[in-house]
Order: sequence, then C-alpha cells, then structure tokens
Amino acid sequence: MDALEAVWARRSIGRLSEPAPSSEELRLVLAAAAAAPDHGELRPWRFVVLQGAAKDGFGRVLADALLTRCRAKGVAPTDGQLCKERTKLGRAPLVVVVAAVRRPSDTIPWEEQFAAGAAAAQNALIAATALGYGSMWRTGEVAYDDEVKGALGLAAEDAIVGFLYLGTATPEVAKPSRRPDLAGLVEHWEPPG
Ligand SMILES: Cc1cc2nc3c(=O)[nH]c(=O)nc-3n(C[C@H](O)[C@H](O)[C@H](O)COP(=O)(O)O)c2cc1C
Repeated sequence: MDALEAVWARRSIGRLSEPAPSSEELRLVLAAAAAAPDHGELRPWRFVVLQGAAKDGFGRVLADALLTRCRAKGVAPTDGQLCKERTKLGRAPLVVVVAAVRRPSDTIPWEEQFAAGAAAAQNALIAATALGYGSMWRTGEVAYDDEVKGALGLAAEDAIVGFLYLGTATPEVAKPSRRPDLAGLVEHWEPPG
C-alpha cells in the first residue's frame, strides 16, 4: 500500500479483533512513530505497549483512577462505569500509549513537543494501516489523569497523546477508504492591495 492509500484507508474502528500486529510488525509501527518530525530532535516520546494480561492490569488502573476522580467530586461511580473502565482496553488486542515527555529546552516550546507526539501517533496509525491493521486513536478523561500518567511512569507535566488501539478490522466493522472534501478548508493567501 503506498503512503497516500494508507492515509485514505486509515479509519477509526471501535472494536478490533485478533490478530494484532506481530512483535516484528509492532516494531515497524513504533519505528514509524519515532520517525516523526521532532523540532530540536528532543525525542519527546514514550511508547507503552499494553497487551495480554497487561491490558487487564491496566484496566484496574483505569478503574481505580475513575474512583479517585469520583471521590474528588464527592460522587460514587456506578458498577457499570467501573466495569467499563476495567474492560475498555478489550476493544482491541493491542494498545499502544503514545506519550509526550516534556524535555527541558529554551527554544522548543512544550506545544511543539506535544505536536511531535501527535505526529508520532499519526505515523504509527498510518504504518499499522499500511501493514493491513485497523486502528483507533482514543483519549478521554483517562488521558488527562495524573494517576494514570503515574502508572505509566509519566510525570504530571507530561502528556498522554493517545491510546492507540490496534488489531484486525473484521468485514462487519471495517470502514471504507475516504478522501476528504477540501471545500472551505483551503485558501491561497495573497498580499493585500
Ligand atoms: C487526539 C484525538 C483523540 C481522539 N479521541 C477519541 C476518543 O476518545 N473517542 C473516540 O471515539 N474517538 C476519538 N478519536 C477519533 C476521532 O473520533 C476520529 O478520528 C474521527 O471521528 C474521524 O474518524 P476517522 O478516524 O475514521 O477518520 C480521537 C482522535 C484524535 C485525533
């Protein structure tokens, strides 16, 4: 699949099945992520792979973090909400957390380091698509939760750019390639006067 075909073919697939990318394919996906543009070559990335029993364990982290958030608001989560947190990583056989790790720099602002993280995430999705896998980039409250960041070895000042769900899109859930309409999105600027 060429690069543009992969760009059109990447779609968010909410529920992905086995097989997941093999370990060799995962290495390609992560190498593609680490090939993203990165101002100053700070390498402000961390990729955390959640697979197998680790997904179950991390589901418990997500449920505990929901409990903490609810306690802080003086409310109690329902059993259904807790169960959803515990099991949400089951929506794909493999999840990669892409984090932007804040590097000290006088010249490269944090926004650009975060942007490099987002570029890495997109590279990973395109690589997974080119290898024939389905994917979905997810965030939600968990991405901004310091307890979740801590469980990943991140500091509160770092950022979870996304949870990348990877696996196989069965024909029932697959979505067609799509080439966006540019109407209203593009202007060719000209100097005034
Ligand atoms: C930063 C970011 C966070 C996202 N978080 C979520 C999410 O938490 N839940 C969700 O359903 N989709 C999430 N998405 C996926 C978008 O909803 C999806 O890309 C959009 O609907 C367009 O569909 P497509 O990916 O098939 O083109 C996220 C996308 C980005 C870039």
